[in-house]
Amino acid sequence: MQVRISPDAPASVRAGALVLPVFTDARLEGISATVDRELHGALSDILSSGEIKGNLCETSLVHAKDFNPRRILLVGLGDRAKFEPYMLARYAGAAVRFLGKRNIPELAFALPAKVAGVEAAAASFIIEGAHAGTLDTTIYHSEPDRPILLDAITILADSLDEKALQSGAQRGDILGEAINIARRMALTPANDMTPTHMAQRAKEIAESAHLAIDVLDEDAMLKEGMGALLGVSRGSDEPAKLIVLSYKGDPSSKELLALVGKGLTFDSGGISLKPAENMHEMKYDMSGGAGVIAAMFAIGRLRPKLNVIGVVPSSENLPGPRAMKPGDILKAMNGKTIEVINTDAEGRLILADGLCYANKLGATKIVDAATLTGACVVALGHAASGAMSNNEQLVEEFLAIAKPTGERYWHMPLFEDYATAVKSEIADLRNSTGRPAGSLTAGSFLKEFVGDTPWIHLDIAGTAYLENESAWQAKGPTGTPVRAFVSFVEAMASGTSGTRNGQTAVSQGALS
Ligand code: BES
Ligand code: MN
Ligand code: ZN
Repeated sequence: MQVRISPDAPASVRAGALVLPVFTDARLEGISATVDRELHGALSDILSSGEIKGNLCETSLVHAKDFNPRRILLVGLGDRAKFEPYMLARYAGAAVRFLGKRNIPELAFALPAKVAGVEAAAASFIIEGAHAGTLDTTIYHSEPDRPILLDAITILADSLDEKALQSGAQRGDILGEAINIARRMALTPANDMTPTHMAQRAKEIAESAHLAIDVLDEDAMLKEGMGALLGVSRGSDEPAKLIVLSYKGDPSSKELLALVGKGLTFDSGGISLKPAENMHEMKYDMSGGAGVIAAMFAIGRLRPKLNVIGVVPSSENLPGPRAMKPGDILKAMNGKTIEVINTDAEGRLILADGLCYANKLGATKIVDAATLTGACVVALGHAASGAMSNNEQLVEEFLAIAKPTGERYWHMPLFEDYATAVKSEIADLRNSTGRPAGSLTAGSFLKEFVGDTPWIHLDIAGTAYLENESAWQAKGPTGTPVRAFVSFVEAMASGTSGTRNGQTAVSQGALS
């Protein structure tokens, strides 16, 4: 996809369609007002007729014979007073999904005047959303649907800062590609996305983004004492892998951020077998791991001044003849023993060793992401991911940085009560405690494996994939947590978050 920024009027830009924003107040401004005048008020007519109200991602297509381009797509941006730059990703995604399916692969986008001063963020969101809009979910059809085509995008600068638009668009191009990398990995069914495939894919990505990669096989895991990860892997013939991607953006610094992701390529529940209904969705149980690999891709391309590693423990969870059984006791890399109460609480087991390994590699901060608990979906639905931490300041900084990305996270507590609940009679810990506070007992379990390292746990069980499509996004994998991960790394690298030097300052706009 080609990305251009142009100061010219829409009529002199090459595009099959011009996309214009409309708010619910129906007030046309900037390029929209000019175009409306040239069309003798045709756009005002459509707005006053109520054909389009301007709600977020609502669309209305206008054919204008004597205008270039001949197609004008109005796309809603909602209430002007509630506008936030991330909505532009949805605006662009809706336009791409509408026009791309109709064989119009070259688009010009106008921006609302409100983005003056945050041009870089605005352009980044437009290009990110345009990429995301192209995701094809029919890759396994023997006769594929007509793909969503997108060859070129021109962002019309009008009177905005062209340089900032340009740099933002470049970032958005990388971030959008990363988001789709994560989504495509998650879309791929478990027979084509085993831990071995995941490691192979990580190698290709590492190469394309100039990252170092190390993949531990089961022998290496045994030497490291990763009994929890190996315990989960026992039920499957597919060998587990521990994928480690490294990026050194600041060799003189001792700071090392570890992103850790659950790479469970299929979760049947194991001996504590899941019910058949919706079990197929458990191919998405590697979304956290895919998010880490994709975020590392973006980091390798963006080259921020920070050292970052991505650690992805990857395994299947199946009830094979050698599978771990309820009652079994496993020993994790840090020596802690775990009574397996429920083999379906496997995510925390593979993460336990992943977190220990991140610490061994010298992590000074850890953020993990995992489709960890159904309880998180009960608590927050699909509206937000849960965020838990052993460091209140760090998690508040993370939340402030993640908020403008459009991904939603909600801070949940790790009270001592939950740490008590995960204690076992016979071993140090037990992997399941029953229904109350299921996400928080899971978080408290993970906390036992991070030592004193400041750490955030993100439970993305409700947000990693969606059952319904929207105007701007196909159904299935969403790319969560790639946006927040990349913004967090950028903020840490630029020192705006306070996470680098221990100050309490919180980034107001990691993107701008
Ligand atoms: N992968 C699941 C969690 C999950 C559920 C993700 C629904 C996405 C949608 C996880 O491994 C799991 O099975 N968790 C159990 C834990 C329980 C046995 C303590 C759960 O949530 O039921
Ligand atoms: Mn499970
Ligand atoms: Zn799972």
